[in-house]
Amino acid sequence: MHYLTIPLLLLFAITIKANSNCSQVTGRFLYDEIKCKPNLDKNGCPESYNCSDYHIPKDGCLFEGHVYKDGQILNGTRPCRQCTCNIKNNTSSVSCYKPCQFRGGIGPVIPRGCYAGHILNSCCRKIECPTASTPVCVSNDRTYYPGQYFQPCRTCMDCVCQQGFQGELVEPFCRKMRCDVEILYSKQIVDNCAPLYCRHSPLCCPKDFICPSSCRVENIIRSNKTSNEEKCKFGTQSFSVGDTLDLLDLNANSSRLIAYCACTLPPLLTCFD
Ligand SMILES: *[C@@H]1O[C@H](CO)[C@@H](O)[C@H](O)[C@H]1NC(C)=O
Ligand SMILES: *[C@@H]1O[C@H](CO)[C@@H](O)[C@H](O)[C@H]1NC(C)=O
Ligand SMILES: *[C@@H]1O[C@H](CO)[C@@H](O)[C@H](O)[C@H]1NC(C)=O
Ligand SMILES: *[C@@H]1O[C@H](CO)[C@@H](O)[C@H](O)[C@H]1NC(C)=O
Ligand SMILES: *[C@@H]1O[C@H](CO)[C@@H](O)[C@H](O)[C@H]1NC(C)=O
Ligand SMILES: *[C@@H]1O[C@H](CO)[C@@H](O)[C@H](O)[C@H]1NC(C)=O
Ligand SMILES: *[C@@H]1O[C@H](CO)[C@@H](O)[C@H](O)[C@H]1NC(C)=O
Repeated sequence: MHYLTIPLLLLFAITIKANSNCSQVTGRFLYDEIKCKPNLDKNGCPESYNCSDYHIPKDGCLFEGHVYKDGQILNGTRPCRQCTCNIKNNTSSVSCYKPCQFRGGIGPVIPRGCYAGHILNSCCRKIECPTASTPVCVSNDRTYYPGQYFQPCRTCMDCVCQQGFQGELVEPFCRKMRCDVEILYSKQIVDNCAPLYCRHSPLCCPKDFICPSSCRVENIIRSNKTSNEEKCKFGTQSFSVGDTLDLLDLNANSSRLIAYCACTLPPLLTCFD
């Protein structure tokens, strides 16, 4: 099983090189979204986060550090996820819907040579009819047509090609990607579950959370660091920076690996499928 840790190490090596001068990149986007406070090392890179203010309020919905009241619309979610805070019986929940359904083919008639393009901050589509002279966008050596969505490599940005794009990842062309983890996983975050990242695109949003109740921990390798740094929590267990472990199927007879995890950026583990 331990050959599986090799791709994990490679992955960190790649992110070190390509992203910024800070070595630990995966995980930061999530903490920034839920407004945890970074604890910086001497190079100015986050080495852990303080998420002590993160909680699920009884009388409101916490989203990006702001508590919304019953019936209020959460500001800043993904364009295709319009969400409202609901309070019932002292329990908060968030309900979402898709504000604008694009019905491919059934909606407006799309003229020949045209297509339904994306709009950056909207869920709706817009009919684009590029002419031969319509400029296209270039990002990471690939070209895009107006209205086409793209995600520049090694960024956590959503971009839509439009006239005037010069390669700068700014509005109105690009916006910070949204994970909306607080809407999807607030319970998992307060329960110290572990974010699971896709091995091939680890930087931005976790694709799921794994909770201690749904797996067992095996093959723990302790780094034996004797510092009093922040710990990673997984349910009631705690791990030091540098520790690695595997999460396996709950069924003790099964050796199905769910994820390999490392404590790289406390307080949550960082896991890969
Ligand atoms: C990142 O590293 C490069 C080369 O080592 C250096 O030129 C640059 O100033 C550094 N940037 C920051 C923000 O430290
Ligand atoms: C985390 O932040 C809170 C305030 O938001 C502070 O009271 C607490 O001491 C901090 N914890 C650590 C370990 O720095
Ligand atoms: C939503 O957030 C944006 C950007 O942070 C801000 O400009 C806008 O005023 C906010 N709208 C509301 C209704 O709070
Ligand atoms: C309200 O919450 C209490 C305690 O969590 C629970 O016992 C009760 O069944 C709930 N009532 C309704 C109507 O959901
Ligand atoms: C909600 O909690 C408050 C304070 O804990 C209590 O006074 C109130 O009766 C509760 N309401 C419901 C509907 O359970
Ligand atoms: C950490 O300590 C344990 C127990 O002393 C030992 O078995 C393990 O090999 C050590 N790990 C490393 C990475 O040195
Ligand atoms: C695990 O394997 C043992 C022996 O092979 C068997 O008796 C037991 O029922 C199995 N348990 C489960 C949960 O499959």
